[in-house]
Amino acid sequence: MISVLPPLGAIVLPLALLLRPVQSEYAAGNVSALHDNSQNCSCYVLNSGKDSNTPEYFQYYRFWDFRDLASNGPRQYINAPPEVNNTQDQGSEDVWDANILNSDAWNVDWGIQNWSKPATEDFPTKMVNSPANVYIMQNEDENDAFTFLTLRTSRLDDFQSAAEIENEQKNLKHCSMRMMARVVGSKGACAGFFTYFDDTNESDVEILTDDPTDMIRYTNQPALDKEGNEVTESSQNPSDLPHWDEWQEHRIDWFEKNSYWYLNNKQVAANTYSVPRVPSGLVINMWSDGGEWSGNMSIGDSAEFQIQWIELTFNTSGPLEGPAGGNNKRSVELWPRKEKKENCEVVCKIDDVQKRGTPEVVSVNHSMATGVSVSWGVLGIVGVVSIMVGMM
Ligand SMILES: *[C@@H]1O[C@H](CO)[C@@H](O)[C@H](O)[C@H]1NC(C)=O
Ligand SMILES: *[C@@H]1O[C@H](CO)[C@@H](O)[C@H](O)[C@H]1NC(C)=O
Ligand SMILES: *[C@@H]1O[C@H](CO)[C@@H](O)[C@H](O)[C@H]1NC(C)=O
Ligand SMILES: *[C@@H]1O[C@H](CO)[C@@H](O)[C@H](O)[C@H]1NC(C)=O
Ligand SMILES: *[C@@H]1O[C@H](CO)[C@@H](O)[C@H](O)[C@H]1NC(C)=O
Ligand SMILES: *[C@@H]1O[C@H](CO)[C@@H](O)[C@H](O)[C@H]1NC(C)=O
Ligand SMILES: *[C@@H]1O[C@H](CO)[C@@H](O)[C@H](O)[C@H]1NC(C)=O
Repeated sequence: MISVLPPLGAIVLPLALLLRPVQSEYAAGNVSALHDNSQNCSCYVLNSGKDSNTPEYFQYYRFWDFRDLASNGPRQYINAPPEVNNTQDQGSEDVWDANILNSDAWNVDWGIQNWSKPATEDFPTKMVNSPANVYIMQNEDENDAFTFLTLRTSRLDDFQSAAEIENEQKNLKHCSMRMMARVVGSKGACAGFFTYFDDTNESDVEILTDDPTDMIRYTNQPALDKEGNEVTESSQNPSDLPHWDEWQEHRIDWFEKNSYWYLNNKQVAANTYSVPRVPSGLVINMWSDGGEWSGNMSIGDSAEFQIQWIELTFNTSGPLEGPAGGNNKRSVELWPRKEKKENCEVVCKIDDVQKRGTPEVVSVNHSMATGVSVSWGVLGIVGVVSIMVGMM
């Protein structure tokens, strides 16, 4: 039997088409609401690996926090904006909450997508990404009225309206990426959180609303071989997990030879098959095309992918726009504050910190004798000691 699972990447347009020039005044913009608090750190350490006990170091860190975006207190964002309607099949609708989701601070990091794909035999529902499916929502609990980013997909008469955002930093290699998220709504949708370069360099967390709420799909693409048959080792679908329709912390650790997936800081999948080798970007989407993988959503139904925060620590390789890019206008570091350093003087941890998103210093590696910081080469040893101290 020929399987018809599509790689998630099959529905991502060539990145070069979608790049926009960076705002030179970005550094002066107010990014505190969506960014990190780690000015003093020169590298970041986390524990990962087979035993989740191996320190790994990265040079960069980002934290996008969507929890505190209501300027008018509780109830400001409790009503979802109206759904896209039957005539809105061009992807040309404006984004809601443009003061946030079309701000300089947002646009420099994220691109909201508007591409579409036609119906085919295997994927029988036409799909159109619309910026109007990306918006801010708020918890109704007035005592804990946090906000969150929402990506919605809904089924119209003749098409599926979908949502996708892509991070503009497309030269990740490698990274640990996390999000606090849940998925709610009707069957027949797929929520994706993944690294992407192409259909063979892609590492996924996918939540299918057709699945039981204790099951998640963890895949390195390609999931199909040249004959279109499923590659068994590409994917792990553990069940008995904490339910994805409640808030959970999802995580992919991408290293040179290994992929690890965590849920609430517990390793739930690991793979060495087709670990991506090309610098990649981070993509988040919520979609359906009526196919075997996403399922078929009933007309009038919708589902939402809701995200409180996204955390990313990473190294880079090559230009910001990634290997496929070549758009010189964007050949600047997104976060110009910090230069790539040969040494790591101040090591910060990102997990087990007092305030999520605020890394904490675990060691300062500065040689009194020479006055210089220690090189990355010896960090492994220094780091192990420092982390142990830091956690006591
Ligand atoms: C920047 O954003 C933060 C967080 O939303 C806010 O507290 C602060 O007042 C803003 N600063 C300026 C200058 O607008
Ligand atoms: C950075 O270090 C300076 C000087 O030690 C300190 O005053 C400041 O609070 C630190 N900032 C953060 C965010 O840790
Ligand atoms: C990130 O880059 C630093 C500096 O080159 C290196 O020491 C470190 O091992 C890299 N981290 C990973 C996970 O590859
Ligand atoms: C769809 O929404 C647009 C924008 O709000 C509106 O102009 C149009 O009349 C609506 N179409 C239908 C069929 O409701
Ligand atoms: C889609 O987005 C691109 C980039 O932002 C924009 O240039 C284009 O006009 C948009 N297309 C539609 C149909 O709105
Ligand atoms: C990644 O892309 C490269 C270049 O197209 C290709 O050679 C390789 O097979 C792809 N997949 C992996 C896992 O490296
Ligand atoms: C998919 O859903 C549509 C709309 O509810 C329905 O008309 C169609 O028969 C469904 N197709 C399949 C293969 O279930």
